[in-house]
Amino acid sequence: PTNHLQVEGSCNIWRADCRAKGGSPGFKVAILGAAGGIGQPLAMLMKMNPLVSVLHLYDVVNSPGVTSDISHMDTGAVVRGFLGQQQLEDALTGMDLVIIPAGVPRKPGMTRDDLFNINAGIVKTLCEGIAKCCPNAIVNVISNPVNSTVPIAAEVFKKAGTFDPKRLLGVTMLDVVRANTFVAEVLGLDPREVNVPVVGGHAGVTILPLLSQVKPPCSFTQEEIEYLTSRIQNGGTEVVEAKAGAGSATLSMAYAAVKFADACLRGLRGDAGVVECAFVSSQARLLYVTELPFFASKVRLGRNGVEEIYALGPLNSHERVGLEKAKKELASSIEKGVSFVGK
Ligand code: NAI
Repeated sequence: PTNHLQVEGSCNIWRADCRAKGGSPGFKVAILGAAGGIGQPLAMLMKMNPLVSVLHLYDVVNSPGVTSDISHMDTGAVVRGFLGQQQLEDALTGMDLVIIPAGVPRKPGMTRDDLFNINAGIVKTLCEGIAKCCPNAIVNVISNPVNSTVPIAAEVFKKAGTFDPKRLLGVTMLDVVRANTFVAEVLGLDPREVNVPVVGGHAGVTILPLLSQVKPPCSFTQEEIEYLTSRIQNGGTEVVEAKAGAGSATLSMAYAAVKFADACLRGLRGDAGVVECAFVSSQARLLYVTELPFFASKVRLGRNGVEEIYALGPLNSHERVGLEKAKKELASSIEKGVSFVGK
C-alpha cells in the first residue's frame, strides 16, 4: 500500500502501463508546487499532453483538491497527488521530468532577487529529494530568481554526486513567448510565425532579446529596438503591477512552462531538431557561450537533455552593450546561489 493520495482509476493504470511497455512512450512528470498560481494551470495543461503517462502533483498545501479536480479530465495521464514533505520522495521516485514552480512570487515593487531568501531554501530542499529519488530526471526550474536557483540546484546535485549539467534547465521560455508576442505586434505578424532568441538570464537587464536575429528576418528602427527591449525585460513587472499584489504571471507562465516541458519530452523521445532557449550550465556541452558558469542561450534538446549549446551568433552594437550589462549582473546572481549551498 502507498501512502500518497490515490485518486487514479484502475483503467488508467492499465493504460499507463501499456504506454510504458508499448511503442508510444509515456513519460512520468512531477510538478513541485502544483497547487500554486502557476502549478494549477500547468498541471491542467500537462494532463492534456499526450506524451505524459503519469503526472505527480506535489505541494505543501491543497494538492488533494487540485489532484482530484484534474484527475477527472478524460485524457490519458494518470494523476496522483502528494501532500507535504513526508510524501516528497514518493512524488519523485521514477520521474523522467520534474518541473519546479514552488515558492513565493513577486509583489509590486519587488525584484526577483527579493524572493531569494524564501525560494533558495525551498529549491534546495526539493533538489535534495530529486538527487535521492530520481537523479536521472530532467529538471525544469521555474522558481525565481532563476539566475540563482539554477546554480543552487547544481550545487545540491554536485554535493550529492548526481550533477549532470545536461539535465538541469532554468525556464526562460516566458521571455521568448513575450518577445514573440511583442515583436509580432510591432511587425503586424502572427506571433506563431515569429521566433526571437532571448539569451542571458531571467531578470531585468539579464534578459537579452537578440532582435537582430529575429525570424523571419526583419529590421527595426532605433525607437522600436528600445521599446521592445524594455518591454521584454519588464514584461514580468508589467503583470505584477497589473495584478496589484495578487502575484505575478501565472497563466502565460504555465503556457510557457508546458511549451518548454513538451520540448524536453520530445527531445527525450528522440525527436530531431528540438531547439529552445534555456538557462543552462556552461558545462552542459564543450562550448562556453560566455565565460560565465551559467547562461541562457539556444540549446538543442535530445535524449540526454541538453545535447548542444549554440553560440550567440553575430550581435549588433546595442546587443553587445546589453550583453556586458547582463554578464555583470548574472555573475553576482550566480555567485549568490553557489555560496548559499556552500554555507
Ligand atoms: P504561488 O504562491 O501562487 O504558488 C507557489 C506554490 O508553491 C504554492 O502552492 C506553495 O504552497 C508552493 N510551495 C511553497 N513551498 C513549497 C515547498 N517547500 N514545496 C513544494 N511546494 C511549495 O506562486 P506562483 O505564482 O505559482 O509562482 C511560483 C514561482 O514561479 C515564484 O517563485 C515566481 O517568482 C516564479 N515565476 C517564474 C517565472 C519564470 O519565468 N521562470 C515566471 C513567473 C513566476
